[in-house]
Amino acid sequence: EKDPLIVLVTGAAGQIGYALVPMIAEGAMLGPNQPVILHLLDIEPASEILKGVKMELMDGAFPLLKDVIATTDVTEACRGVDIAIMLGGFPRRKGDGKDLIFKNVGIYKAQASALDQYADPNCKVLVVANPANTNALILKEYAPSIPEENITSLTRLDHNRALSQISENLKVHVGDVRNAIIWGNHSSNLYPDANHATVDIGAGHKPVKELIADDQWLKTEFITNVEQRGQAIINARRLSSAFSTASAACDHMRDWILGIPKGTWVSMGVYSDGSYGIQPGLIYSFPVTCKKGEWSIVQGLKIDEFSREKMDAVERELIEEKTMAYSCLH
Ligand code: NAI
Repeated sequence: EKDPLIVLVTGAAGQIGYALVPMIAEGAMLGPNQPVILHLLDIEPASEILKGVKMELMDGAFPLLKDVIATTDVTEACRGVDIAIMLGGFPRRKGDGKDLIFKNVGIYKAQASALDQYADPNCKVLVVANPANTNALILKEYAPSIPEENITSLTRLDHNRALSQISENLKVHVGDVRNAIIWGNHSSNLYPDANHATVDIGAGHKPVKELIADDQWLKTEFITNVEQRGQAIINARRLSSAFSTASAACDHMRDWILGIPKGTWVSMGVYSDGSYGIQPGLIYSFPVTCKKGEWSIVQGLKIDEFSREKMDAVERELIEEKTMAYSCLH
């Protein structure tokens, strides 16, 4: 049997945490042959809830789950971790602006230092908590010993939402749709792009653009539906999306670590190397391929004028967030 990997989940007493930890314990993130040890971190006011989550994990009697440490101590939580899923923070509410950035950025600076000191030097990090891209950026800057390619943010939920919109419109199974792209930020300015997406029609793959009856749909409703899906779920459930986010986090890590088929890609928030003219160093969502634990940005996709404008607008938003984050830290 393989050695267990240590997986840290911060904010584990929250909504997404409750959906995510059993998925990890069942192998949805790292595969059915990979034992895991879970480190669950939350803050003092949530410590009783956290104990309850640990009890349920033990009662789940998961064959792959070798141990659970539930703690409010950041050092203990970060010790030896191979994989860190960062859910901890204060969720987005109506009218949130700079305050949210301020609160969460401070948390990410502190936790970056703990990961830097105590985590495995090759630890892979996924930031989910909002503002996800900017929290990841701060984490990257304050955890200098962790390679920058190991620090990513979640836009896979938006990616999956894009696939789901296309599948609904074309009345095909979501598993037959591939290669959508989320450019930029996990925010209401993200740009879902279906220009390169295809559908498996049995005898090969056909571009979504050729299959869609109304070609305006991709530039209008498709984009707003993906952008506003989070709000639609809040309106319906009175709580923000939880298990779809947890499932997307599993997809993100599994694809990154175990790889994806040739010719396909997924969306991940990763540090920009200047690809597609995006400011180097920003954490920006790009189409990526993954192989043996490494991602690389898909190169050479044709970008039309409509896309260019949207990609630049979301880049500007991320630069603004970065400036704000730094002004909060200094
Ligand atoms: P939640 O409020 O239910 O859970 C957050 C948890 O973080 C709470 O248990 C809280 O006590 C804990 N926490 C707060 N400060 C902490 C700290 N310093 N260290 C450790 N834990 C801390 O929120 P929920 O619904 O689970 O969402 C988690 C985050 O994910 C939010 O920031 C939300 O905005 C974000 N999100 C991101 C999505 C994405 O696609 N990137 C999608 C949905 C949510």
